[in-house]
Amino acid sequence: MDKKYKWYKIADSLEDILFSDNGLAEWDINGKRICLSFFKEQLYATSLKCPHAGGNLSHGYIDETGNIVCPLHRFKFSLQTGKNVTGEGYYLKTYPVEKRANGYFLGMEESGILNWLK
Ligand code: FES
Repeated sequence: MDKKYKWYKIADSLEDILFSDNGLAEWDINGKRICLSFFKEQLYATSLKCPHAGGNLSHGYIDETGNIVCPLHRFKFSLQTGKNVTGEGYYLKTYPVEKRANGYFLGMEESGILNWLK
C-alpha cells in the first residue's frame, strides 16, 4: 500500500529556518521535534532524537558525504534513508521534504487506522 502523507509547512524560505553554524536546526512540526539539515542545496528532515540513546541530533554535524553524526556516540545516519551507516543497526526516522512555490513542506505519514477509512 502506498504511504499517505499529510503535508505541513516548514517555512516560506530557507532564510526563515534558523540553522546553527553546523547546518542543523531544531524545529517544531505538528507537535513533533524535528531536526532539519541542509546539505548540497537540499533540505532534509529527520527525528530530532537519535534512535540509539536519544542524543539531540541538531547538536551533531553533517559529514562530508551527507550523513548526520550524533553528538553523543558519533553514530552516523544517512540523511536520505536514515540508515545507520556506521553499522550499529539503528534506523533514524526520516521525513520527505518538498519545495513548492509557496515554501518548504514536510510529509508525515497518516496513522494506519485513518488510512483504512479512506
Ligand atoms: S545517542 Fe546517538 S549515537 Fe548514541
